[in-house]
Amino acid sequence: MRVCVIGTGYVGLVTGVCLSHIGHEVICVDNNAEKVKLMQSGQSPIYEPGLSEIMQSSMASGRLSFTTDLGKGVNHGDILFIAVGTPPLPTGESDTRYVEAVARGIGENLNGGYKVIVNKSTVPIGSGDWVRMIVLDGIAERQRVPVGAGVSAAANSIEAQFDVVSNPEFLREGSAVYDTFNPDRIVLGGSNPKAIAMMKELYEPIVERQFSEDTSLPTVPVLVTDLSSAEMVKYASNAFLATKISFINEVANICDRVGADVTQVAQGIGLDSRIGNKFLQAGIGWGGSCFPKDVSALVHTADDYGYEAELLKATINVNDRQRLLSLEKLQQVLKILKGKTVGLLGLTFKPDTDDMRDAPALVLIEHLNRLGAKVKAFDPIVSQSGIGSGLSGVIVETDPERLADGCDALVLVTDWKQFKELDYAKMAGLMHTPILIDGRNYLDQAEIETAGFRYVGIGR
Ligand code: NAD
Ligand code: UGA
Repeated sequence: MRVCVIGTGYVGLVTGVCLSHIGHEVICVDNNAEKVKLMQSGQSPIYEPGLSEIMQSSMASGRLSFTTDLGKGVNHGDILFIAVGTPPLPTGESDTRYVEAVARGIGENLNGGYKVIVNKSTVPIGSGDWVRMIVLDGIAERQRVPVGAGVSAAANSIEAQFDVVSNPEFLREGSAVYDTFNPDRIVLGGSNPKAIAMMKELYEPIVERQFSEDTSLPTVPVLVTDLSSAEMVKYASNAFLATKISFINEVANICDRVGADVTQVAQGIGLDSRIGNKFLQAGIGWGGSCFPKDVSALVHTADDYGYEAELLKATINVNDRQRLLSLEKLQQVLKILKGKTVGLLGLTFKPDTDDMRDAPALVLIEHLNRLGAKVKAFDPIVSQSGIGSGLSGVIVETDPERLADGCDALVLVTDWKQFKELDYAKMAGLMHTPILIDGRNYLDQAEIETAGFRYVGIGR
């Protein structure tokens, strides 16, 4: 099928690349010319395991291309994905101006053939109908342009036919390609059977598990709902997962006080199939580009409709407090932080990504600076790329030993698998005081202690 994906960030680029890999003809559009140039040269602007390889093979097959020309993309695609960002506004609600610009641009460029416009971006409940209205505004805008001003009379007289479908995305950064080929479910919100049938055809190879790691698994469930319910599925999923993490973090804090070990407790409760063992890793809080903004946006939506979402507010409050936990633990062991040097192992909000949006490390850096500590950091991706130069208040080191050199304590912030293999004995020898706060309960306490460290975990 012919597909256009507008917005080539973590979601849009992965979607475009994966859809071309399964056989569709995809044009990806982005208004960032520099980014488009980079992608046209076969390079991915983001770090996502496995992405570059399939991007290059799809480009070589001629099924994937990149442009800044929205009109070209809209003309090409029978299915048009909107995958631009919806960052948070200071009030907590979602900033939908990029979605609006794209929807208007689609309307201005619709060429008359039937199109399915897909909201892949996470958008506030009710956005499906709103996007429809903006597209219609775009069409009306174009019809006001006199013939001869770049628009043919034929194009102007065409009554565009389109439907809007909500198709929320559930991929995780760091495993985005894997998640796209191995989804737990595909959700399609819309009312026109024709549009839903086209979306089912698009996803058929994935639904049939032709690209799954285990092709013998049952087909992927496809849930068809109304527009608003699909939009709510997205917010409710992220809110549930964030609440689950805040729950185990709260349990960890109680474990700390009563002398229980949260890793054993998580194992014990996770064996209950009604609870499940995923997303029960206690630590220094959830971050990233989605949980914080999506939980806040849902609280805001509830508020708009006169409902106070108390549980979700508590989820956020617990997380805000959790992000300061490693600071508290540093104060407990080092007492005064002024004049001390703290080394951070990891900067990104989770492993296997270069994304620093709302990363717990940023909060830690800010507070350590405020308390007069010097902050250094090593991150397997940030230290190699140029991203670190944009950070203030932290010296980004090129290797773990340079990080450890002269530190009064280390904090493991991100559970990169590389951190399992470091030469901790050598690092302990380079430190002023060998203390390690394991903010993700990721390392083996006995091994770290044998290497010469004082080990402090979360809730253990
Ligand atoms: P991103 O910020 O990484 O990328 C957005 C892209 O859109 C950028 O490349 C930007 O240049 C482009 N863009 C902005 N305005 C444009 C315009 N008018 N025309 C063309 N391109 C334009 O965003 P992201 O992380 O990929 O998230 C996109 C959406 O998907 C958000 O709504 C997010 O909540 C949702 N989502 C994200 C993830 C994730 O893991 N990042 C997962 C699920 C859902
Ligand atoms: C999350 C969801 O998992 C995806 O399904 C969703 O598509 C995406 O948000 C989105 O809407 O953008 P992502 O943010 O990429 O994906 O990463 P997660 O693996 O969910 O981790 C989020 C945060 O929670 C990270 O800071 C991670 O360290 C933390 N986390 C995760 C924990 O503290 N404990 C856990 O047990 C799991």
